[in-house]
Amino acid sequence: MYRRIVILTGAGISAESGISTFRDQDGLWEKHHIEDVATPEGYAKDIQLVERFYNLRWQDLQRPEILPNAAHQALAKLELEFEGELLLITQNVDDLHERAGSLRMIHMHGELKKGRCPKSQQTFVLREPFGEDNCCTCCIPAMRLRPHIVWFGEMPFAMDRIHDALDECDLFIAIGTSGTVYPAAGFVDTANHHGAQTVEVNLMQPDPHSQFQYHFTGKAGEIMPKLVDTILNGNILGANKCKLAQA
Ligand code: APR
Repeated sequence: MYRRIVILTGAGISAESGISTFRDQDGLWEKHHIEDVATPEGYAKDIQLVERFYNLRWQDLQRPEILPNAAHQALAKLELEFEGELLLITQNVDDLHERAGSLRMIHMHGELKKGRCPKSQQTFVLREPFGEDNCCTCCIPAMRLRPHIVWFGEMPFAMDRIHDALDECDLFIAIGTSGTVYPAAGFVDTANHHGAQTVEVNLMQPDPHSQFQYHFTGKAGEIMPKLVDTILNGNILGANKCKLAQA
């Protein structure tokens, strides 16, 4: 039976909900230049272009057909029913985990639905799109809100808390992430180093150099409900009796 679980999710977990990933075919980074829309330098160079990019993604998230899928729901169920400690870390800036019911979670790359005061760093839930009139209420003069997004070259949020949890966990699961963006890509090494079991769930076959001990290949929405039930039934991966998703 596991006692401390850390879960990392990436864009792949929201793909079945209709949100584009970054690096898959037709992903966001095929249509936009990272340096233009996802760096502090790009923002300084063309504020309107960057605001338009995040305004469109924020509006997209509010389409009625964008809903949490079975993988988000399975993780919310795990949080509710697991008797040990669980920390959910997401690289995603959508709010589908919260909508599914997850409470104890870290948005390490920020959140689409929030803006941040560039001076005080206070965050505000967006009521209107980014623009010159969308300002903070914490400063005089009021400052134009910037997207509450961690751009390339910026430090992700809550890294101390994340590393403490990775040091102590006995199971680490990464779901729907390409494992190409650090520091999240290094979490598996930390968890392995501290003796945790490490599991990857991904649509694609694992990379031959993968550091994960277990792989489940397929859709997160199909694998996660089975994997969560396996954990909640007190089974340990790799143990004789463990019958997991045939993935
Ligand atoms: N189920 C499981 N995995 C899936 C699914 C699915 N239904 N669909 C796609 N995937 C996998 C892909 O095979 C790929 O490995 O999800 C992964 C998505 O990878 P990326 O698009 O690179 O997204 P991610 O790894 O989350 O990106 C990390 O990069 O640009 C930055 O800040 C951005 O948070 C993002 C970070």
